[in-house]
Amino acid sequence: MQDCLETDVKLKTWLCVVATALTVLSVNAQEDKNKELIERIKPEGQVHVAGQSASGDAAGGGGPRSGEDIYNSACVACHGAGVLGAPKLQVAADWQPRLDERGLDGIWENAINGINAMPPMGTCGNCSEDEIKSAIEYMIEGI
Ligand code: HEC
Repeated sequence: MQDCLETDVKLKTWLCVVATALTVLSVNAQEDKNKELIERIKPEGQVHVAGQSASGDAAGGGGPRSGEDIYNSACVACHGAGVLGAPKLQVAADWQPRLDERGLDGIWENAINGINAMPPMGTCGNCSEDEIKSAIEYMIEGI
């Protein structure tokens, strides 16, 4: 009897531990489910973005945005019409002297840090440095 009681207490303790563990697990599971939901919603948002950028962006598929996308969302305001003397989209006369002087890496660095009226990162707050480079490559394409 004594033994049995003791076993019973141990068993209860054990059960309690298991129950606690299960509660913790189920809370975790709920969190996981939430995360899973968010993950499931997220890619859809990206598909939309990718859809908008479908033009010639076959390799993209959820990775970094294309240079054309970045250009159209962040750079076109100035580089489209050459506002404040910004070198214009795919106009060799505007870009060539800069490329001759600094090369792609040099103008990339200036785009990241800003130069004169050119704001750092071209005002694209959520652009990676590589995306800035893609946008530049798009702007100097064919030059
Ligand atoms: C507010 C207007 C504005 C926006 C927006 C803007 N630029 Fe510029 N950008 C300029 C101006 C003005 C210059 C010329 C600066 C100079 O050389 O005096 C320039 C120059 C540049 C240069 C040449 C730098 C060099 O070393 O000659 C690059 C590259 C560049 N911009 C990239 C970008 C990219 C990429 C974006 C978008 C992510 C962008 N810019 C958005 C105004 C802008």
